[in-house]
Amino acid sequence: MKDILSAPFLIEMVRTTTNMYAHGWDERNGGNISLLLDEAEVSEYLAMQPLRTLETGFTAPELDGKIFLVTGTGKYFKNVQYAPEVNLGIVRLIENGTKAELLWGYSDGGKFTSEFPAHMMSHVARLGVDPENRVVMHCHPANLLAMTYVHDLDEKAFTRTLWQMCTECLVVFPDGVNVLPWMLCGTNEIGEATAKKMETARLVVWSQHGIYGAGKDLDETFGLIETAEKAAEIYLKIAHLPLVNTITDEQMHLLEQRFGVKGREGYLA
Ligand code: 13P
Ligand code: ZN
Repeated sequence: MKDILSAPFLIEMVRTTTNMYAHGWDERNGGNISLLLDEAEVSEYLAMQPLRTLETGFTAPELDGKIFLVTGTGKYFKNVQYAPEVNLGIVRLIENGTKAELLWGYSDGGKFTSEFPAHMMSHVARLGVDPENRVVMHCHPANLLAMTYVHDLDEKAFTRTLWQMCTECLVVFPDGVNVLPWMLCGTNEIGEATAKKMETARLVVWSQHGIYGAGKDLDETFGLIETAEKAAEIYLKIAHLPLVNTITDEQMHLLEQRFGVKGREGYLA
């Protein structure tokens, strides 16, 4: 049996949480990540014997038998690199997703993130549109969060503003950014609402809270959030100044042609 701490998926998770903390996106226990793992790969490292069984509080039959590496609730991203086994866990969903067998981690008696419903329901939604999706990532980047206090929360308006802030935004997230109003976090309700929004975009803003991203690997998902956050930062730098120039819709169409992408239907003139 190979050492789990040498598993590429674990190393990548440690690097990602450390990097997200360094970006200031994950104060205290803020943020959480879930990564869908390949069973054959995991079994190179683990005996696959459940250590404990946890209740999930929801049903997700589509995920039955699926294995995820998930950050622990109340755990600090800054600490993951020093104690992966305490701050992370590997779980296998069973019984229509109503239960999760702990295969490794949460070694201080902890459990998966309180946002487990939003993560698992978002995986179901994203796998429905993209079978390659592996990651759901949540964090609290300051500029996107700040933007939800001063910008119209209409999804088209919010997306268009972000697209206009950096030339590459349309290329990186042509599907745009969906937006939820403030809702109580850690509930099945916000999980269901997030998953619904995930059907049409890989980024979902939680107003006055943070953002969710989804993608095929940790790097891509990090980059997605990073790009939107950079755009929000530029917006906050210029929002109070007279706007003299912008990226026009005509220029956006040139980007679509050059990079072979298509902006969300109806979002460009
Ligand atoms: P957890 O510590 O339960 O992951 O919660 C952090 C968070 O960001 C809640 O939205
Ligand atoms: Zn949060």
